[in-house]
Amino acid sequence: MRNDRQNTKPAILFLCLGNICRSPLAEGAARAAFARAGIDVTLDSAGTGDWHVGHPPDRRAQAEARRRGVDISGLRARQLSPGDFCRFDLILAADESNLRDARAIRPADATAELGLMLDLLPGRRGQGVTDPYYGKDDGFASTWDDVDAIASALVARFSPSG
Ligand code: 4NP
Repeated sequence: MRNDRQNTKPAILFLCLGNICRSPLAEGAARAAFARAGIDVTLDSAGTGDWHVGHPPDRRAQAEARRRGVDISGLRARQLSPGDFCRFDLILAADESNLRDARAIRPADATAELGLMLDLLPGRRGQGVTDPYYGKDDGFASTWDDVDAIASALVARFSPSG
């Protein structure tokens, strides 16, 4: 069994469809939360689709993150690859559709745990983070609220005292 993850810091990958809205917001919120907690982790995000590869996050996502004090302008979209299942400990999908697409390319020797982002929050199990891409700008505020709560849950999970 291949495992590229032995004896290293925890590595978490956030996954959505385009990697320009939900998962870069989740990565940004998690980067801020883990930095505040002083916990060293590897964080990244990816999309199941390839339409936006190389693009920065959606301008509305960048604006919402900035409003919350987090700069995600330097992130660039990439597509999920089979190798990610051995490079990360945890791959967190924004919704069921992303989860299905991820399972479809999961290699037999995958070591990463795969689940939904909102499974980390009591009472939200099985729910998807709403995709704000096709909605109005204010959808990004509730997306941030969700990914920020997910980031706090992750910090608690990976906290040395937790
Ligand atoms: P995301 O949102 O999966 O949260 O990044 C979307 C971004 C782009 C598209 C769909 C959803 N798109 O169809 O291009």
